[in-house]
Amino acid sequence: MSPASPVLPPSPSEALSNIATQIQACAEQAGITGRLAELGLTARPAFLKAQKVIGHKLIMRNATVADASYIVALRTDEQKSRFISTTSVDVKPQEQWLEKYACDDKQIYFIIQNMEGGDIGTVRLYDQQADSFCWGSWIIQAGSANSSSIESALMVYHYALALGFQSAHFDVRKGNESVWKFHERFGAKKNGETAEDFHYSIAASEISSSLSRFAKFLPSGIQIQF
Ligand SMILES: CC(C)(COP(=O)(O)OP(=O)(O)OC[C@H]1O[C@@H](n2cnc3c(N)ncnc32)[C@H](O)[C@@H]1OP(=O)(O)O)[C@@H](O)C(=O)NCCC(=O)NCCS
Repeated sequence: MSPASPVLPPSPSEALSNIATQIQACAEQAGITGRLAELGLTARPAFLKAQKVIGHKLIMRNATVADASYIVALRTDEQKSRFISTTSVDVKPQEQWLEKYACDDKQIYFIIQNMEGGDIGTVRLYDQQADSFCWGSWIIQAGSANSSSIESALMVYHYALALGFQSAHFDVRKGNESVWKFHERFGAKKNGETAEDFHYSIAASEISSSLSRFAKFLPSGIQIQF
């Protein structure tokens, strides 16, 4: 009997092609093209609000008015609010913002949950510029699993690529060193700055390469439910 041949890991180019296949399959399974047509959106990419995006250990669900008090508590947390824009402690303006958001097709606001259904954070996609999207409002509450930041970032990129986006842009406060280092590890490039912020963009090639490099955090990609 000949010894079983060893199972080799995929080469980097095979791994990249697997990611592209995974994203295409996910977009087809979710019926993104049909959904865009139903909404009369002829241009691609476009933001589509999913009810749920299911990952490996996390779920992102569309934010609703009922999430106002959770969002206020998260955004006014002393530690978490150091590098984000100021939020009123009043729940009412947050409810009004979420009411408007429900009819706003120019952004997607997700509540990040663990698989037990517990809310653990938020993330938002907005400011489409051609095939680039901006993401932010990214907060994960203290005590969440260590893998939550990386898995949620991978889910955002996977979802955006399934919608047809190619690249991303975002600003990070200069003092928010752990976060800009995080983005740089993903391949984001600094392309400008103001007194307070660094501006970054990340190209399609770097997004795909990070989805491939960190695939153990999102081994089966995402499943989208509209
Ligand atoms: C932004 C935010 C969600 C990032 O989450 P985070 O938990 O701070 O992310 P970290 O960079 O510390 O990563 C968490 C863990 O994953 C690990 N990790 C991060 N990137 C990784 C990578 N590319 N590969 C392997 N491990 C990685 C880290 O080492 C860390 O593990 P450790 O605690 O054992 O060191 C969180 O800091 C937050 O809620 N901040 C407040 C709001 C804010 O400033 N938002 C950003 C506005 S731009």
